[in-house]
Amino acid sequence: MENIDAIDVTGHTPMPVRHFSVPKHYETDLESVLIPNGMIRDRIDRLARNILEECTPHSEITLLCVLKGAYLFFSEMISVLMRLNVDRPNPVRIHVEFVRLSSYANDVSTGHVRILGLNLAGLYGKHLLIIEDIVDTGRSAIALLEELRRTEPASVRFASLLLKKSPHWNGFRPDYVGFIIPDAFLVGYALDYNEHFRDLDHLCILNDEAKAKYQVSLT
Ligand code: HPA
Ligand code: MG
Repeated sequence: MENIDAIDVTGHTPMPVRHFSVPKHYETDLESVLIPNGMIRDRIDRLARNILEECTPHSEITLLCVLKGAYLFFSEMISVLMRLNVDRPNPVRIHVEFVRLSSYANDVSTGHVRILGLNLAGLYGKHLLIIEDIVDTGRSAIALLEELRRTEPASVRFASLLLKKSPHWNGFRPDYVGFIIPDAFLVGYALDYNEHFRDLDHLCILNDEAKAKYQVSLT
C-alpha cells in the first residue's frame, strides 16, 4: 500500500471507549475507538477539496453511493462539496445515484458479491465517482467496476473512506482513500456487523464477545 495518499492509522494506539460518547446498547461490544467522528469529518473535508480540484475539467459529476455502508461518507462528502461549490468561480454540478452491494456474513466475505438496483441507463456518458465505505479484499470494488463498465460512463474514479491492510487484498487501489486501517473488523459510521452498529458515530474495533453475540447462522 505504498504511495497511497491517506492517513495510515495502523500504527496508532486505539483509544478506550470510555473516553467517548457511545450509545449504551453498544458500550460492552467495542474493543476500542480507532477513528473518532471528528477526525473522519475533517478527513472527508480534505478529500472533497482534492476531488473538486481534480474534477475541474468536468462541469458535472455523478456520485454513486454504495449502500448501505457508505451512506454517511456520501452524505458528508456531498455536504462539503455543496459548501465548497458556492464559493467557486467554476462550480461543478453534482448528481447522485445509488447502488446496493452486499457480500458479508458475520465478519467474513462470502466471496459472492450481489449488486442490486444499479441504474444502467442513467450512468451512460457520465463522469462517475464511486463512494464506498471500505476496500477490504477489493473483490466488491472489482465486481462493481466490471459491472459499471457495461454502462459506458465517460470516466470512473473511486473514493473509499477506508482501505484495510488485509492479507486477502487483491491490490485494488482506490483513487481517493481516507484512512489505511489495520486488519480488524470495524463498525460504526454506517459500517455494520450483520446490520448492527450503523448507529454509532465513531469507527470502532468490535470485540470477540460482540462477534459471537450478533452472529448469524450461515446455513
Ligand atoms: N467492517 C464492516 N464491513 C466490512 C469490513 C469491516 O471491517 N470489511 C469489509 N466489510
Ligand atoms: Mg461497503
